[in-house]
Amino acid sequence: MNIASRFQTSPDNAPVVHISVDGDTIATTQGISLAAALLAHSGDPSRKTVNGNDRTAFCMMGVCFDCLVEVDGKPNTQACMTPVRDGMIVKYQIGLRGLSEGDDA
Ligand code: FES
Repeated sequence: MNIASRFQTSPDNAPVVHISVDGDTIATTQGISLAAALLAHSGDPSRKTVNGNDRTAFCMMGVCFDCLVEVDGKPNTQACMTPVRDGMIVKYQIGLRGLSEGDDA
């Protein structure tokens, strides 16, 4: 029986894409999740809670919401559920964000 790993890596010839992370341009692999790209870039937290506690991706499957970032101006985006694409603009999220665009809490 051949069980496919949930943590398969991209093939060596997978295209490289560039994304902006808080103003820094990083090269990553097309097709991986944004959370994986951020963790590979640095182990730094990707958001702060309203109490100022650091958080970063934890479950990698859309459950914990510790990976929330702003992507292309859209806050509360789950990085683990978002595939990277070329030109993506990512900002670390600080505190709460409103549920609708432009509605900061
Ligand atoms: S890492 Fe848990 S929801 Fe994204």
